[in-house]
Amino acid sequence: MKLSPIHRVQGRLQLPGDKSISHRAALIAALASGSSTITNFSTAVDCASTLSCLEQLGVQIKRSGSTVQVSGNAQLRKPVAPLDCGNSGSTMRILSGVLARQNFSCELTGDSSLNSRPMGRIIEPLEMMGAKFHSNSGKPPLTVYGSEEIKPISYKLPVASAQVKSAILFAALGAHGRTEVKESSLSRDHTERLFNGFGVTVTTAEDLTVTMEGPAQLRGGDITIPGDVSSAAYFIAAAMLLQDSDVTINDVGLNETRAEFLSVLRSWGADISTDDIRAERNEPIGTVRVRGGMQTNANRPNERCIEKTKIPSVIDELPLLAVVGSQISGGIEIRDAGELRHKESDRLKATATNLRSMGAEVEEYADGLAVFGPTQLRGASIDSYGDHRIAMAFTVAALVADSPTEIAGTDCVNISFPEFFDLLNSITVG
Ligand code: S3P
Repeated sequence: MKLSPIHRVQGRLQLPGDKSISHRAALIAALASGSSTITNFSTAVDCASTLSCLEQLGVQIKRSGSTVQVSGNAQLRKPVAPLDCGNSGSTMRILSGVLARQNFSCELTGDSSLNSRPMGRIIEPLEMMGAKFHSNSGKPPLTVYGSEEIKPISYKLPVASAQVKSAILFAALGAHGRTEVKESSLSRDHTERLFNGFGVTVTTAEDLTVTMEGPAQLRGGDITIPGDVSSAAYFIAAAMLLQDSDVTINDVGLNETRAEFLSVLRSWGADISTDDIRAERNEPIGTVRVRGGMQTNANRPNERCIEKTKIPSVIDELPLLAVVGSQISGGIEIRDAGELRHKESDRLKATATNLRSMGAEVEEYADGLAVFGPTQLRGASIDSYGDHRIAMAFTVAALVADSPTEIAGTDCVNISFPEFFDLLNSITVG
């Protein structure tokens, strides 16, 4: 796709539902008593993968646009074919937690990107709970041999990962006793909030130990999924970088384990306000308005080097923050983010390579990047590496470059945000 620089963005947007919350809402609805209606369900291909896996497991689902009705009380049954999780790490990892406590075995596979991602991180705790796995040296395809005698565990996560934490909590619904999961830095807490919102108490102590008593039964009900803040991030960054922009986004999820990106941009002088904040099943939601340009922000801490404990809360926005960092005096330094090498692509390498092609000076480390700025990016031919977040981060880079940019492989935006280019066009001025 060829993208030309633009002058500014202006308008009001309403975004599809959050991808992380949609995966969890669908799984919860399938396991809960009674039926549930999920409104503003994510349009992401990843979330369609979760729904189709659930259907193959025997769950009754009716989808009409962004409304999904799920009949609960699902007695899951062994699927006739391997479950295809597509590109979706959340589907494979969190669903493994559900399958760990079933009385059948089941194979999970994915596309070439997913099949090269590490699964040892879920295999270890779920085997401690009593399930068994077969994998390709810790990578998919996976066979999960479920056990109805699943045991509670006390587990310290080696890497902060919401997918792993969630897999354990979903398995713990069937375990007799107290399960504890401890993280070193808080990762997104949607599973905890939604379990509480659907009738199962989960607590998080100050030392980040998440505790839950099993066995426990979720209660079905309705939910409207907040707009995806990780999708909003691209428009927010574009509006900040393009002078005279003014963009308002309604009904965005503002859970603080996800919205840290906004604080980082504010610390860089972005004019971002939030308004009309309320909650939907414990998930904060509100309106975000961004006005273009950066103010000098003498009295705010400057987050040029993102703090280690905040990395999990901006994990999906780091390629975009690197792009924005190239436009900021002093640039940005990202460390303790080696996890980015295990996402849909090696996001440290992809970000460094593309930024360099566009003229930025970048140092790449095993666990991060330093991007020097400000730099006038130049138009270039770059690659998405088949990774939706790289495609969208570099679309923002292309908008502020000095000449057109060609990005190879932009179809992958469908993985999280099929409407991305249409919505961007709808707010583009000049
Ligand atoms: C997700 C958690 C994160 C994130 C991914 C979605 C989730 O992964 O990168 O896009 O929905 O739980 P990790 O848990 O592996 O950090």
